[in-house]
Amino acid sequence: MPAGDTKRNLIIVSNRLPLSVKRVDGSFQSSISSGGLVTALSGLTKSTQFRWFGWPGLEVKDNEDRKDVCQSLEEHNASPVFLDSDLAHEHYNGFSNRILWPILHYQSGVTFDDGPWQAYKRVNELFADEICQAAENGTLIWIHDYHLMLLPELLRARLQKQGKSCAIGFSLHTPFPAGDFWRNLPVRKHLIDGLLASDLLGFHTDEYKQNFIDTCASLLGARTEIPNQIQYKNRLVCIDQFIVGIDPLKFTDTLQNPDVKDRIQTLEERYKGVRVIVGVDRLDHIKGLTQKLKGFDAFLDDHPELRNKVVLIQVAVPSREDVKEYQELETELSTLAGKINGKHATPEGTPLLYMHRSVPFTELAALYSIADACLLTSTRDGMNLVSFEYVACQEKRHGVLVLSEFAGAASFMREGSICFHPANKTEMSEALYAALHLDKDERRRKYEYLRDFVHKHTSARWGQTFIEKLNSRACNSTRPCCS
Ligand code: ADP
Ligand code: F6P
Repeated sequence: MPAGDTKRNLIIVSNRLPLSVKRVDGSFQSSISSGGLVTALSGLTKSTQFRWFGWPGLEVKDNEDRKDVCQSLEEHNASPVFLDSDLAHEHYNGFSNRILWPILHYQSGVTFDDGPWQAYKRVNELFADEICQAAENGTLIWIHDYHLMLLPELLRARLQKQGKSCAIGFSLHTPFPAGDFWRNLPVRKHLIDGLLASDLLGFHTDEYKQNFIDTCASLLGARTEIPNQIQYKNRLVCIDQFIVGIDPLKFTDTLQNPDVKDRIQTLEERYKGVRVIVGVDRLDHIKGLTQKLKGFDAFLDDHPELRNKVVLIQVAVPSREDVKEYQELETELSTLAGKINGKHATPEGTPLLYMHRSVPFTELAALYSIADACLLTSTRDGMNLVSFEYVACQEKRHGVLVLSEFAGAASFMREGSICFHPANKTEMSEALYAALHLDKDERRRKYEYLRDFVHKHTSARWGQTFIEKLNSRACNSTRPCCS
């Protein structure tokens, strides 16, 4: 922490913890959580020490059981914030994922309900109580994502009461929408107010940052003339783009593992003479999976000569399965996958392998590594770390990234990939064809560009840059940190 004079404690807060706990036959079992936030923060653990607070994923009432859960999380330096299941459901599924998430991703037609909003406020308050208790004077507190937008304000009030001076940072892992879109949300001001109690706000791209600044100016009349600063209610909030990433060595090392090498060989033999396209996405509307399957169907229509010579392996990781819209999407996708295979299959095989389940990390790395192209079709996406992971696994093959222009990653990776509009089937089909027919030199050129980017912008660098900036705010809160 070079910017500071002392080594400060660091607390990280997010709704999701690195482990999700489940009760199986009366005892607790934990499994690694999936998602970009966990990937990014886990990548930081090698270089930075912190305690991670979050919701464990289930209700635990009994005190002895609570101790067991705490113990199971301890090896990850994680501490649970326990919530009643109805409250957690309304906060996570009801408000965060059914109301806030669609607005952040430009999806219209969202209906607002007061019940989930009250639950959202209550959960943010409970987090504030817990974090305030855990923080000491001088602790750096780094809050993550849209589930906890009110937390900076609630926490600041509590810390002040207790006479604790702590710098508060907040990072958003989703886009922040442009123009008027945010106003669709009736509680639009409350949430922005909540965030502006932070000392430092981080966004994945310059576009999201600018959208947020514009919203603060137009909605609250905040002063935003000085770049990367927002002045509001006598406070100065610094705001910046921090490029999130992965730990690429985790992937390159895994590919050296003898079992993974065997697996790669098996898969390569299985797909000999067949070009493999891979897709890995949480099963979510924003990932454009319907568009992806329809685009692949169009590609197969456009290129009958590629029949039996190309396969799309799509891993759709189960996500937010208690939300009706996600259940409906799953039904739609499995029907669509069946139709596409019905239309294009031959006795030699099917062109689409649709897997609706989570796959182990080693299998994921092997799949990335054997694929000639990776197809990502997000209609909107904060960053999309799968694109980074594919690159990290392509040192030998130099496969091509075919990337939606609406993924945050496209802001940085356009030069090294083939970008397209996800709602345009023809563009997607042409992008795929181009990816599979790029000459060797062009593939290498693109690959080297992406490799350099992914190895430079790691999760460790992202975290350290944010923490240093937050620390410099803590050292001198009257000095702007945005130079
Ligand atoms: P999002 O944050 O929206 O889920 P990202 O593409 O940024 O999207 O991140 C997805 C992350 O989830 C990737 O790091 C990917 O490797 C990870 N992931 C995918 N499948 C699994 C799995 N079965 N277990 C753990 N992590 C997974
Ligand atoms: O990308 C936004 C995000 O909320 C990430 O923070 C998280 O990793 C991912 O979506 C998965 O979300 P959930 O916690 O609902 O599984």
